[in-house]
Amino acid sequence: MTADIPLAGVVGHPIGHSKSPALFRHWLEAYELPGHYVPMAVDQADFSKVVETLPRAGFVGVNVTLPHKLAALEISQQTTDRAIMIGAANTLIFRKDGIIHADNTDGFGFIANLKAGAPDWKPGRGPAAVLGAGGAARAVVASLLEIGVPEILLSNRTKGKAETLRRDFGSRVNVVDWIDAGAAIEDATTIVNTTSLGMVGHPPLRVPRDGLAPENVVTDLVYAPLETDLLKEARKAGCAVVDGLGMLLHQAVPGFERWFGVRPEVTQATRLAVL
Ligand code: ATR
Repeated sequence: MTADIPLAGVVGHPIGHSKSPALFRHWLEAYELPGHYVPMAVDQADFSKVVETLPRAGFVGVNVTLPHKLAALEISQQTTDRAIMIGAANTLIFRKDGIIHADNTDGFGFIANLKAGAPDWKPGRGPAAVLGAGGAARAVVASLLEIGVPEILLSNRTKGKAETLRRDFGSRVNVVDWIDAGAAIEDATTIVNTTSLGMVGHPPLRVPRDGLAPENVVTDLVYAPLETDLLKEARKAGCAVVDGLGMLLHQAVPGFERWFGVRPEVTQATRLAVL
């Protein structure tokens, strides 16, 4: 290995389940690029020490996943506005001058996936119903507002968390009681599940879906299973449906381009490589 071979990776804890190493390996091979991408399991107590040392070992950057997304923002000297708005970073770029640059590409990945899966989707067409108010929801809400969705109907089991998002993101976010989430779906043209409900090993999403109509675009951040019950029912109702795997693939595009010099494409082969 020479110093010219760029190294990147993903830092989290646990990290064994991460699909990023398979994804990056696939792209490095597909574009015949030199480089390595390694999974790193790092404890919270060691995060800053480990990450600050990586540039000296030949790393050009890392992806950051749970539980380090907030710490990643805090250790960087330069942050994008969207990372600050979301309150978390998932992509760190180690600049040659020693500065750590932090970005959050989850919202970009979410929108890129939505556009790829539902090419006729128009952000301005009507409100979006967003279920959930955790870390993923913050990226989704920020990106939907940025691209011009007129209103977000935000519903979360713990209402206070939804209200915090409204405070942070402004009055285009309207909080809907969790018990009324079905009504939010009925009033929306875009429907997004950001909760863990419906994921393998998690409880089902029990929000009423009889308000789904053929003009709706429905997407689920859960990608295990690939077709969740929500997406299955949406498909039966004639909606355009977009699964969550693509968000994971698209959010990796900016980091890969920055670190390895080629903007990679998300194709069917990319999906198969990580499944
Ligand atoms: P992520 O970063 O993936 O968003 P998270 O921050 O842990 O993960 O958020 C998980 C989301 O799933 C939250 O909106 C959570 O609701 P609460 O804020 O009320 O915890 C939601 N969620 C998880 N289990 C749930 C359940 N059994 N019923 C309703 N919502 C649930």
